[in-house]
Amino acid sequence: MSLTVAERLKQLSPSPTMAIDAKIKSLIREGRDVINLSAGEPDFDTPESIRQAAVTAMAKGETRYTPAGGTVDLKKAVADRLRKDTTLEYQPGEILVSVGAKHSLYNAVMALVSPGDGVLVPVPYWVTYPEQIRLADGLVELIHVDPKRDGVLSAEDVKRSIGPRTRGLILNSPSNPSGAVIEPSDLQDIAQVVVDNDLWVISDEIYGRLVYEGTVQSSIASFPGMRERTVVINGVSKAYAMTGWRIGYAAGPSAVIAAMTNLQSQSTSNPSSISQAAALAALSGDQTAVETMRQHFDERRRYTLDRINKIRGLRCAVPKGAFYLWVDMRAWQGKALGSRTIQNSDDLALSLLEEAGVGVVPGSGFGVDDHFRISYATSMKLLAESMDRVQRLLGSAE
Ligand SMILES: Cc1ncc(COP(=O)(O)O)c(C=O)c1O
Repeated sequence: MSLTVAERLKQLSPSPTMAIDAKIKSLIREGRDVINLSAGEPDFDTPESIRQAAVTAMAKGETRYTPAGGTVDLKKAVADRLRKDTTLEYQPGEILVSVGAKHSLYNAVMALVSPGDGVLVPVPYWVTYPEQIRLADGLVELIHVDPKRDGVLSAEDVKRSIGPRTRGLILNSPSNPSGAVIEPSDLQDIAQVVVDNDLWVISDEIYGRLVYEGTVQSSIASFPGMRERTVVINGVSKAYAMTGWRIGYAAGPSAVIAAMTNLQSQSTSNPSSISQAAALAALSGDQTAVETMRQHFDERRRYTLDRINKIRGLRCAVPKGAFYLWVDMRAWQGKALGSRTIQNSDDLALSLLEEAGVGVVPGSGFGVDDHFRISYATSMKLLAESMDRVQRLLGSAE
């Protein structure tokens, strides 16, 4: 008998952001001169004190299974961090440590979405949300955000999108890909709509520490009536430059966390014991490195935003968080560029890659095909060179 892939996986798409990243890296391996602005990860090394904590853990023999949902010490450190950063109070029994934030999200979606449940997902969305909802046999219900608000979700947007099957909402502030941040007053209004309609929320706050322009980190779970209906997702990947260590976490009501822990115990079991020791050092140690990296990101953000807005046919709103620019390329649609007529962001991304040697991520994977995403998590030197290249190809704004 030949092997047949199960129905549930036949519709699953591979992550498009990882696909473009792989294409760019293969061109670089072939010796092509390409500057990669597609990566969704900090270019910094994990701070030395965190790496040292992993070395110490290994030397001390912390190399065995831990509890499936993470060590109690790490859960306490997560609770402390959440209290300091968002004022939210959680007990260790309300926290799960997973193999990255993506894994925590997966566990949350599996625990909350029953077949046929509608889940609201604001557009543009991080590529993984719709796929995980579909894996749980849920219905993806897209929220088309009012363009007048520069991509920032409002309570009105949520209210207008609720249908008879809607059960939950996935929030991502700061957003990947847009960098948009929902201000506390808007979060409060969204919370009211959520409570009024008896919905749950998965709040992906992985970029919460990376905010700019005086923005304050804030969680929807902190508004009245929300703690009991929200699962907060976060992790160490982005703020501590620890993408490869694979530690993320979820905080929420104990019954949901228990179900998620159960699923994890029957699938991956515990995340790496060494990575947990490193994450403990990251969350509970000196936070200076986080602020230093944030300042570097901020400088790069301001520089790249200014350059992009001086290039012909490109426009970008001010992103207040994460490390991405979400670039509007509608002015290029239907126009000729070299040998190609640009219809959408895939065409423009291909032209930028082949003719300018700059790798960006087309918006199609994020549900919007007239924008593309730039990651500014790379050096100022490479950002300057890449902006020069794009400007040479597209020309300057009048
Ligand atoms: C919005 C968002 N959530 C979650 C993740 C996953 O983070 P982790 O690497 O910890 O799994 C990412 C990573 O790109 C992300 O952009």
